[in-house]
Amino acid sequence: MDMTIEATAQAVMERCDILGGYSEEPARLTRRYGTPAMRQVNERVAVWMHDAGMTVRQDNAGNLVGRYEASSLGARTLMLGSHLDTVRDAGKYDGPLGVLTALACVQRLHDRQQRLPFAIELFAFADEEGLRFHSSYLGSKVVAGTFDPATLRLADTEGVTLAEAMRAFGGNPDVLQASKRDDSDLLGYCEVHIEQGPVLESLNLPVGVVSSIAGQSRIAVNFTGVAGHAGTVPMSLRHDALCAAAEFVLAVEELGQGLPGLVATVGQMNVQPGASNVIPGLVTLSLDVRHQDDAVREQACRQLQERANKIGASRRVSANWQPLQPHRTVPCSPRLTQLLAQAIEAAQHPVYPLPSGAGHDAVALSDLTEIAMLFVRCKGGISHHPAESVTQADVAAAIEVLEQFLVLLAK
Ligand code: HGY
Ligand code: MN
Ligand code: MN
Repeated sequence: MDMTIEATAQAVMERCDILGGYSEEPARLTRRYGTPAMRQVNERVAVWMHDAGMTVRQDNAGNLVGRYEASSLGARTLMLGSHLDTVRDAGKYDGPLGVLTALACVQRLHDRQQRLPFAIELFAFADEEGLRFHSSYLGSKVVAGTFDPATLRLADTEGVTLAEAMRAFGGNPDVLQASKRDDSDLLGYCEVHIEQGPVLESLNLPVGVVSSIAGQSRIAVNFTGVAGHAGTVPMSLRHDALCAAAEFVLAVEELGQGLPGLVATVGQMNVQPGASNVIPGLVTLSLDVRHQDDAVREQACRQLQERANKIGASRRVSANWQPLQPHRTVPCSPRLTQLLAQAIEAAQHPVYPLPSGAGHDAVALSDLTEIAMLFVRCKGGISHHPAESVTQADVAAAIEVLEQFLVLLAK
């Protein structure tokens, strides 16, 4: 007998709870790429994929891939998915909800012994957040064929390189090209994700359809001064790297507040040598800049680089600017988005298109195939935080919409 959508949604909620229990840290949820917690999660989800009638493999980067065959040979393939890694002190839904919602839809097909005129490949990406190596979209870039091999040399805080971590996780950094998905049979990629913002809640809507995903720049900024004795070096003779960094952080905030739609964040800072009686000699910090208009974002980055140099010069500290690979704003596919909107109507919810300020695996996959995204309301718009929360009723709505989307695509 078919499970009701509500029972399916309850099972998805329970599975989010189960995956939320796999963490590197006992008191909070942190699941970085290639860690034992990540391995346990892949093993668990692999069993669930298998139970849903899928053939399962782990690719050379460590992405887990389940395939549910079509009703006929030679049919095309729809990609579904999201990621299973997390930020530090994360919530349970950013990433896993998309994987588990898609998996639930496949399970429902399998329970009815139903095949569609296209195959479904469900990708559970191994690293979207980039917490361990400051990479972005590591897993999905390998699948899209846009992974930069230079990334393999990045090291984590323990000095382990990405190449080493990949090997230890059962992957093979030497043959990543083999894990690029051939695009000749693809129908597109659809990702379900929590909104991570307050818009749907403010409109009292369970789901929304994503119009585009904001471009982003990530930059590593270093201020190098001169470390010295906190008791003996007069204030006028100091080259204090942290004072320069502090001024820069406020300049970042000021620019973000002054340009509509721009968000700019310093989220990490490391102070060396890091002692209460030593003047800071080196500060490394992360800068994240986003806007829906790529030209505005690029101009903002140029302005901030100038500010960093000026602040450095005025404080006799050198400023170094190292951009990581930027991502342009990605529009969602009009065709798939239209189908998703129809699916939302069929599930009897109002259709509300909204842009995404957060990045998603769909960005990387847009280099491979057409993309579409469905957002699910989350409480208070809170995300990247343990208080992340969704309701079972909204998850049920997302399952129903995704199921309708499959029906419409099959027509
Ligand atoms: O940073 C982002 O936007 C994403 O959540 N990784
Ligand atoms: Mn995230
Ligand atoms: Mn995410």
